[in-house]
Amino acid sequence: MEQAPNMRRYKGKVVCITGSSRGIGKRLALRFAVEGADVVVHYFRSAEEAREVASEVKGMGREALLARANLSKEEQVVGLFEKIQDNFGRLDVFVHNAASGRNRPAMEVDAKGWDWTVNVNARAFLLGAQHAASLMPEEGGAILALSSFGSERVFHNYASVGSTKAAIESLVRYFAVELADRKINANAISAGAIATDAQKHFPGIEEAWAEVERKIPYSRMLEADDVANLALFLCSKEAEMIRGQTIRIDGGLTLPIP
Ligand SMILES: NC(=O)c1ccc[n+]([C@@H]2O[C@H](COP(=O)([O-])OP(=O)(O)OC[C@H]3O[C@@H](n4cnc5c(N)ncnc54)[C@H](OP(=O)(O)O)[C@@H]3O)[C@@H](O)[C@H]2O)c1
Repeated sequence: MEQAPNMRRYKGKVVCITGSSRGIGKRLALRFAVEGADVVVHYFRSAEEAREVASEVKGMGREALLARANLSKEEQVVGLFEKIQDNFGRLDVFVHNAASGRNRPAMEVDAKGWDWTVNVNARAFLLGAQHAASLMPEEGGAILALSSFGSERVFHNYASVGSTKAAIESLVRYFAVELADRKINANAISAGAIATDAQKHFPGIEEAWAEVERKIPYSRMLEADDVANLALFLCSKEAEMIRGQTIRIDGGLTLPIP
């Protein structure tokens, strides 16, 4: 079916989404492709899943570049952008969606777990955004990071990840100001809980999930497509006056005072 013109906001654009092998990142990759983008499908361990995402993107008539990188390693972050440069010669949108973490109380996070979490979540965003910006054309581009309200609230076992999300939210403010003269925008999305594989690793997630369902003011749970709707808007020209912001999307979950 022919799409309406406003559904092709990313025609001719190259979009890189870290961690697009599964979960929210996969949904973002497919939705950007639906709107016309060629997509860099980045993954680390989930090679088969990433191949399937790339093949779905190609099935829509777009280009898909499959790129493996362990984002905890600086040289692999650099390698990812070299690959993008070699294949496309440019990048229009960089979405740092990949995340990992040591899910422990703050008192039990060791140096190794801290370094891993910081490197994958925050340092990879810092370095990735720097390399992405250098590949963006004169007409500008967009940088987007996935955060969560664990950046400012306290979740069980979320100390290391929450801290890196706070760093990410701070970085988008700096990028938004420092890259403004190059017409590059930067924002973050702070999402509420969405059922993806990531959550299986959190001890006690079942009870936490039931609690979220009980508390959410709106009539349904948040889905990856809700995040994609916001991401597609924030990385577009329509959002050019929204700069350096962290937009919360959670169905009102965090509004009521307990
Ligand atoms: N799900 C939620 O409820 C929720 C809520 C708020 C915010 N978020 C944020 O949204 C984003 C996506 O969440 P999700 O639930 O979709 O996560 P997910 O299903 O666990 O997927 C995580 C992604 O990150 C990649 N990744 C993990 N470690 C990596 C590493 N060392 N190097 C490179 N890539 C790595 C994984 O790639 P491989 O599988 O290929 O290794 C995977 O594609 C995250 O930033 C998360 O913090 C999620």
